[in-house]
Amino acid sequence: MSSIFYDLLAGLGFTHPFHPVLVHVPAGMSIGAVCFAFLALATGNRVYRVTAYQATVLAFIFALLAIPVGILDWQRFYGGAGIFEIRMKLVLASLYVFLLVTALGWGRWHLDSMAMPTLYVLSLFTVMGLGFFGGELVYRGFSPDAPEQYDTGRRIFESNCSGCHRRGENVIVSTMPLRNAPQLSDFNDFVTYIREPRMPDGSPGIMPRFTLEKLSDKEARQLYDYLYFAFLTPNRPLH
Ligand code: HEC
Repeated sequence: MSSIFYDLLAGLGFTHPFHPVLVHVPAGMSIGAVCFAFLALATGNRVYRVTAYQATVLAFIFALLAIPVGILDWQRFYGGAGIFEIRMKLVLASLYVFLLVTALGWGRWHLDSMAMPTLYVLSLFTVMGLGFFGGELVYRGFSPDAPEQYDTGRRIFESNCSGCHRRGENVIVSTMPLRNAPQLSDFNDFVTYIREPRMPDGSPGIMPRFTLEKLSDKEARQLYDYLYFAFLTPNRPLH
């Protein structure tokens, strides 16, 4: 059954997980509900309470779509494996639906009660938790684990490089991966390169320059040590 769904998407040229496409609606609506609930409190205008409630209706409808599709994606792309982040997402998703249903049920008769903004805020925190674990799931693998001494370097990699060089690849010029790149064998070559990146023919490419203001020499050293460990194959620990 689910493979028909994915085959159909693939036929349209879409081979990625579908859950991320749907999650923005409940997330956005929960943000909206909190904003309008506070606007109602600030202005005393009841119409904003109604808007907050309506936003929650839409959050609920899209949560009912996003959750089953998330479970299908989990089966399809992660083989249904019991990954910590996914378990957390299942717990939070159940809590989210519970909070939305409570808000919708309670709000029918008690739209003006203070329980409503409270429920909206709790729903928003839950949806932020769902987003956080989704992000962990997608981005964490971008930077290989390394011993503690490389923590700072790894963080520098994650905030400056891993978007384009996830897992040591190169998402823009795939023939120039970071893994085993010639610049990694010597620190001075490395610093010279990241201060003024070049294509093999010497022309400037797409990679941004990492000037001293962006990355001090000390940070470059910490980054280098991490990259040397993580992406220069002979240095990887043998299992
Ligand atoms: C916006 C995307 C982007 C970011 C961010 C980025 N790079 Fe690059 N990187 C590239 C591209 C594209 C190339 C190919 C050469 C070029 O365009 O200048 C490259 C090439 C390289 C190379 C040479 C690889 C080879 O095989 O010759 C190294 C080393 C490198 N990057 C390191 C880094 C480091 C370290 C960081 C973070 C401090 C970083 N890059 C951040 C896109 C990026």
